[in-house]
Amino acid sequence: MGVAAVKTDLVDEEFEEVREQRGSRSGLTVTVAIHRTVGGVSLGGCRMRPYASDADAVADAKRLAHSMTFKAAAAGLAIGGGKGVIALPADEPISFERRRDALHDFADLVESLRGRYVTAQDVGTSEEDVAYMGTITRHVAGHPIAQGGSGDPSPYTAHGVEVAIRASLPGGDVNGRHIAIVGLGHVGGALAERLAADGARLTVADADPGKRALADRLGARWVSAEDAFETDADLFSPCALGGTLSAEMISRLGAPVVAGAANNQLSDDSAAGELAQRGVLWAPDFIANAGGLIAVVAEYRSRRFDRDRTERAVEEIGATLKEVYRRAGPGGNTLLAATALAAERAAAADHGAGPGAVAA
Ligand SMILES: NC(=O)c1ccc[n+]([C@@H]2O[C@H](COP(=O)([O-])OP(=O)(O)OC[C@H]3O[C@@H](n4cnc5c(N)ncnc54)[C@H](O)[C@@H]3O)[C@@H](O)[C@H]2O)c1
Repeated sequence: MGVAAVKTDLVDEEFEEVREQRGSRSGLTVTVAIHRTVGGVSLGGCRMRPYASDADAVADAKRLAHSMTFKAAAAGLAIGGGKGVIALPADEPISFERRRDALHDFADLVESLRGRYVTAQDVGTSEEDVAYMGTITRHVAGHPIAQGGSGDPSPYTAHGVEVAIRASLPGGDVNGRHIAIVGLGHVGGALAERLAADGARLTVADADPGKRALADRLGARWVSAEDAFETDADLFSPCALGGTLSAEMISRLGAPVVAGAANNQLSDDSAAGELAQRGVLWAPDFIANAGGLIAVVAEYRSRRFDRDRTERAVEEIGATLKEVYRRAGPGGNTLLAATALAAERAAAADHGAGPGAVAA
């Protein structure tokens, strides 16, 4: 294939395969990490962003592939975790042509894996990019709706986060509840719309002042991210970047419940213990934000994307989360409970019996 000058081909004990190559067209490093396959397949998006070094790009691909394994398993999807990364130069803008070349290099790498890794949209890549890669390799999911695909996964992620919010609030109703959201992007914006339509009272924040128009339209209170974090709301929903739940920040958290879309919300695993100790109920991110993955896998598994069926599968996030809360018990560590549940479901998927598995 068109990707030349393979630098390394790492396989270590924890990962089924990690491939790092220098793209022959773009000269950029493209990486695929396959944490595990189920039935010979792993899936995860293609992230395109600047990295300080190739080692950082590979480490990110591995970290993300690892969490995809848990996300898919917890959602009962009979598919393994993988991830792709295109490392952009850290300090120079990239031309349209070179970006296209990088997508081509990445698609060649995907094709060379012969279906062991299926790629999709992620941070820095778009539906159009997915469609373009789909002209080079068929191991792509999340095609535009106009092509019969599932389209942008964000609305499904937003739906899943709303389901998680309901499952996390006493009584399961958002009407009249006060919810603080940080990040009104693709997911947070759609989530805010859903919650406002269901009668929730919103306090919102976004680093982009342009998002204030949406806040105004929804009658939401517009504050700084810090104020949203500290607001005495019924629930806090992180929908921007990960890593915000550190011990220091948790001590300043205003809401007794946290459920949001951001990936890797905890600064490290010990933060889950800190949340539990402070009586904060935390919806593990890899369960709450699985809606987009559920949609993409549904498209990949079926010849025709079935939206209604997918929405019903997204609703299952509520039952999964309640099971996690039941297992954790009052004041228990929900990360430990969720990880154990994911491991059980992963083992079941290995034996072809994943609960709620999207049929192949
Ligand atoms: N898009 C999906 O389907 C999906 C699926 C799973 C997880 N996630 C995760 O959900 C989060 C949001 O995803 P998205 O697709 O909506 O991204 P996005 O880029 O569309 O939106 C992120 C928003 O957060 C804002 N933001 C960034 N840093 C901020 C800060 N420090 N303070 C306040 N606002 C800040 C941005 O201005 C932007 O409006 C990410 O962590 C992503 O990894 C997304």
